[in-house]
This record gives sequence, C-alpha cells and structure tokens, in this order.
Amino acid sequence: MPSNELVLGINVTEDAEILQGQAEVHKTIFAYIDSLVLRSAVELRIADIIYSHGQAMSLSQIALKIDSPSLDIMCLERVMRMLVRKKIFTAHCNEQPSGETLTLYGLTTTSKWLLHDQELSLAPTILTFTDLSITKPAYEISRSIKEGGIPFVKAHGESIWEMASNHPEFNSMFNSGMAAITRTVIDAVIKGYKDGFSKLEGSLVDIGGGTGKLVANIVKEYPHLKGINFDLSHVVENAPLHYGVTHVGGDMFKEIPSANNIILKNVLHNWTDEDCLKILKNCQKAVSEKKGKVIIVEVILRPERHEMFDDTAIALDILMMTNTIRGKERTEDEWMKLLKEAAFTSFNIIPLQSIFSIIEATS
Ligand SMILES: C[S@@+](CC[C@H](N)C(=O)[O-])C[C@H]1O[C@@H](n2cnc3c(N)ncnc32)[C@H](O)[C@@H]1O
Repeated sequence: MPSNELVLGINVTEDAEILQGQAEVHKTIFAYIDSLVLRSAVELRIADIIYSHGQAMSLSQIALKIDSPSLDIMCLERVMRMLVRKKIFTAHCNEQPSGETLTLYGLTTTSKWLLHDQELSLAPTILTFTDLSITKPAYEISRSIKEGGIPFVKAHGESIWEMASNHPEFNSMFNSGMAAITRTVIDAVIKGYKDGFSKLEGSLVDIGGGTGKLVANIVKEYPHLKGINFDLSHVVENAPLHYGVTHVGGDMFKEIPSANNIILKNVLHNWTDEDCLKILKNCQKAVSEKKGKVIIVEVILRPERHEMFDDTAIALDILMMTNTIRGKERTEDEWMKLLKEAAFTSFNIIPLQSIFSIIEATS
C-alpha cells in the first residue's frame, strides 16, 4: 500500500495515483491513433519527401510535394505536430530575413525506417499491420474469449492462410510486409550466427520462407551452402528468383524437402504446440540422417523483463492470438519443452541485435 500524505485533509498521494491511472487509461484508449498517424505519414510519403529534398523542409514545401490538388495544410500541420512529439520527425524554428520564424521539419533515426523503396524500410510492414484486414480481428478478442474460436476467422470467415490463398492482393500485401521485417533482421541473423553458418555443410532449406529473401542473403554470404526456399505453392509461384536458391512449393505438415540444415523464421509462432510438433518432427526427420541443425528465428517472450523489444513481444503474442490459428509467442521454457518433445537433444539460444533470437537445435 502506498503511504498517504494528508495535506489540508486531501489525500495527496492517493489522488495523484488515481489521476495517474486515469492518464494511463487515456493513453491506452488512444494508442491506435499513434499507429494510424504513423500509417498516414507512410501513405503521404513525408519521410521520402524530406529525404529527397536533402535537408529539413517547411510545411508548405512538404505540402507542395504531396500529390493532391486540395491538400488540407492545417491537418498536415497537426499530424506533423504529433509525429514530432513521437520523435519521428524533428522540428526547428528558423528565423527568416523578414524576422518571422519558420518551422523546418527534418528526419530522425526513426523516420528513416518510413522511407519507401529502400532495402531497409518498415514502410510495407506499417501498411500491412495497420491494414483493416489485419486489425479487424482484434475487435473479436472478447467474443473469442467467451465463445472460443479464432478472431481472424470470426472477422473474415476464413483463416489468414486461406485469405492469402484466395485473395492475391492480401497475399501480396502480407508477403511484402513480412519480407520488409525479414530484410531488417537478415543482417542481425547473418552477423549473430556467423560462426554457425560457416560451419554448416550442404544445403539449407528455409521452411515457410515466404519470398526467399532470408535464404538468398545467407547463401550470398556463405556460397558453400545450397539454398532452398520452401513455402506454399501460391507463395513460391509469386516469389522472385534468387541466385543460389531453388524455390520448392509444398506443405510443411506433409513433407519437408530433405536437407542438411533447416531454418524457420517466424513460422512456429503461427501454430499451436501440437502443430509445431508436427512441423518440428518433419524437420527432425529431414535433417536427422545428415546430423544437421535446425535454426529457429523467433521472439523469446520475457514477460517479466522491460528491455527495448519486450513490450512489442507481448503485443506480437496478442497478434498471434487474433490472426493465426492459435499461434503464440513462447518463453524460453516453452521453447525448450517443445523441442524436447520433438526429440531434439541439444539447444542453444543466441540473442540477436533484433527483437528475434536464434534457437539452434540438434538431435
Ligand atoms: C509469418 S510468415 C513468415 C515468412 C518468412 N519466414 C519471413 O519471416 O518473412 C509464415 C509463412 O509460412 C507459410 N506457410 C503457412 N502454412 C504453410 C504450410 N502448410 N507449408 C509451408 N509453408 C506454410 C506462409 O505462406 C508464410 O510465408
């Protein structure tokens, strides 16, 4: 219990805490505004406009570069005020020869992640994960808790993988959002596991590899490895060709191509423990003869820790709950239990400069 301080009969500490609680609720109620204002900055290409200009810009200079005959500059100013407060852009007052002051908006290390058409960009990820198709299932959380069922299916009448298969536009948006995250993680994976990759032999198959970007970059850095990108047929059919990588379409629940080593990034968190066991047993079967490694790139949930990515990891767990078929983020203990059940005998966790870690498993 907090110690209460009475000043003129008012319980100051308790009142301050109650007010603080109110402020926290307000902040959480309007947290969606943060995401959607960020989305608007990406849609309006504000970071790209300032980047192309090469220096900080005034509001009217930014407005002139936005392709619209009827731009509402007052709304743009309010959006910029919020984005500056979030440290997504900087704002500096500049004194003009006329004596007037002009605000100039510049980039920060955060806004550089909003740039389009860059190798390292989170712009497609922002557009994907703030899209109505992805956010709508969250409105079904309480109904799913009461009645059971998958929020995504309640919202859309089909699972996320069915939607990807049935709707090419959704498929392309989802894959590009995922590929953009993957590109930001590739460097961390290659640097963080460099001793591991250099010791691997033969082939490396990326299970659920999406467009194949991860395995393509690994084999580029380690050309002694033969790369295979394995995913559902409709995904690999639309994936670009990568030097040193063969695309293979199929279902990981049925059979995984035989390989010396396997990598799985952001695949197991989409599935239940039972489904993960089926996938991991298929992986085990595919590599066991060759005594290869299974390299899992995933979040390790640390509910008690409060470091840079820990809040996001908890949010991702809820996203897995709403948008996948009972997928989840897992703690270290949960990962170890799952891998032991899949008959792996040795494990090693390698933290990366990223929200993800590597869990290396051998049998
Ligand atoms: C969250 S995405 C991860 C993609 C990629 N590994 C990455 O990190 O960018 C999950 C991937 O699993 C694939 N997938 C889903 N069900 C599958 C199945 N039964 N067999 C093979 N791949 C599957 C999806 O098509 C998707 O590309």
